[in-house]
Amino acid sequence: MRKNAELSAILQVSQVLTSSLDLEKNLYAAMEILAGRLGLQRGCVFLLDPVTRELKIVSAYGLSREEIQRGKYRIGEGIVGRVIETGQPMFIPNIGAEPKFLNKTDSRPQKSGISFLCMPIALDGRSLGVISVDGIYTAQEGNVDDDLRVLSIVSSFIAQFVLLWEHLRQAENECGHLRMQLKEKFSLPNIVGESAPFQQVLKLVRRVAATDTTVLLLGESGTGKELIAQTLHYQSRRAKQSFVAVNLAALPENLIEAELFGVEKGAFTGAAVRRAGRFELADQGTIFLDEIGELPLNLQVKLLRVLQERTFERIGSSDSMAVDVRVVTATNRNLMEAVAKGTFREDLYWRLNVVPIVLPPLRERAEDIPLLLDFYMDKFNRLHQRRVRLNPAAVARLKSYAWPGNVRELANTTERLVIMTDKETIAEGDLPPNILCFNSTAAPMRDFCAPGAEDLGDEVQQLERRRILQALKDTRGVQQQASRILGITPRQLGYRIRKYGIDLRAF
Ligand SMILES: Nc1ncnc2c1ncn2[C@@H]1O[C@H](COP(=O)(O)OP(=O)(O)O)[C@@H](O)[C@H]1O
Ligand SMILES: [Mg+2]
Repeated sequence: MRKNAELSAILQVSQVLTSSLDLEKNLYAAMEILAGRLGLQRGCVFLLDPVTRELKIVSAYGLSREEIQRGKYRIGEGIVGRVIETGQPMFIPNIGAEPKFLNKTDSRPQKSGISFLCMPIALDGRSLGVISVDGIYTAQEGNVDDDLRVLSIVSSFIAQFVLLWEHLRQAENECGHLRMQLKEKFSLPNIVGESAPFQQVLKLVRRVAATDTTVLLLGESGTGKELIAQTLHYQSRRAKQSFVAVNLAALPENLIEAELFGVEKGAFTGAAVRRAGRFELADQGTIFLDEIGELPLNLQVKLLRVLQERTFERIGSSDSMAVDVRVVTATNRNLMEAVAKGTFREDLYWRLNVVPIVLPPLRERAEDIPLLLDFYMDKFNRLHQRRVRLNPAAVARLKSYAWPGNVRELANTTERLVIMTDKETIAEGDLPPNILCFNSTAAPMRDFCAPGAEDLGDEVQQLERRRILQALKDTRGVQQQASRILGITPRQLGYRIRKYGIDLRAF
């Protein structure tokens, strides 16, 4: 009889301890079970405060609020304090006859006839606290050893739960801390640009960040679309939730749907487990769909529905899922042209285009180039522990360069300069050949552009190969994007990659 009651109490305690993330609530539920099943009158869980080294009641059964507040012990003080000190359980058959019993909580009007059982809560040699219970022991209720055993099992459950709970608290703190850092990183002061066209962009960003409006970011590759998308998120009320970025140009067409909307188990051969899509992961947060122009027509319908009704279905499921996401998209293509050609749905275009933000190419805001050079020289000097500077002629040269890869190209160029140079000060002649060869007004400067090549054909090919390598590096090997930077079709790029034997795994 009693054995069954014990087993079922233990089982129930183990279940309630992990039933929620509320420490007090779970501990209270555990003690309620012990009281009901084992006929205990009072129960207390004390935990050791790591800072004050005091034992405090975290949860108590059968005690009033005032009694709980009185129940504080130092290590070594009273029976509870002794148990934490020695790490050994104690049993007192009759607390009336025990001088050590301090009855601090003053919850026992007449001490006689009440027994007291006290068990340390510890794991891997670390004392976490104490659990104590009162009971009325009469002769036939017999074995105290049984109660001690039950309590020692329960206390080991509690120890594990408390540690788990501590880890969780810690993780939550760290997470909050990281998010604060991200918020800082994507704050407007970390975005460089004082030119009028760029300030116009920031004004818009400030205005729409606080809203849930769908935003379409337009601009050439490397102009800062993703940076602005992140800024919109981290400056919004969704900042504490996830920012999920999906580059549609980087995904094979047949995988896009599963990636975005998830897959129900058994939806197709190989779908062995249920997999959440990016929309689910972004719930409460922001989803950033980069290169939205690459979204296949059949999925455009599905996205349209998400925007209109905020619902979708996983592949292989007929259950609708609701999501609360802010949608930010970006493209460097002319979507209106795609609409005219019939490759992009017009209704979707208007849904996405609620607030368009156009990021100007760097060449149209050349006055920001020196600021960006400062920003990135500083950043990479610190990162690589260098103290490289650009002389004024070099800055002027970089300012007149067209930067087809925009800020990304500028950032990469700066990092390369910082790493590759042995000098403290970089002069104009130290700049990379692709920049020196470029001249918006005069003919290319032959001295810099002929690296000892035999004939013009060779020279052109070398230049072409370098440009392709750079574009692939700038786009992290995404050929679609690289071909756009280079102004050739993906097919032409593919042909040249083979021709020059470029190893794509390097990106
Ligand atoms: N205004 C800016 N200030 C500082 N860094 C920028 C700015 N715009 C872009 N960048 C940086 O340039 C790189 C490319 O930006 P990204 O947002 O990825 O461009 P896109 O998505 O338009 O291709 C990133 O490293 C980004 O941090
Ligand atoms: Mg991008």
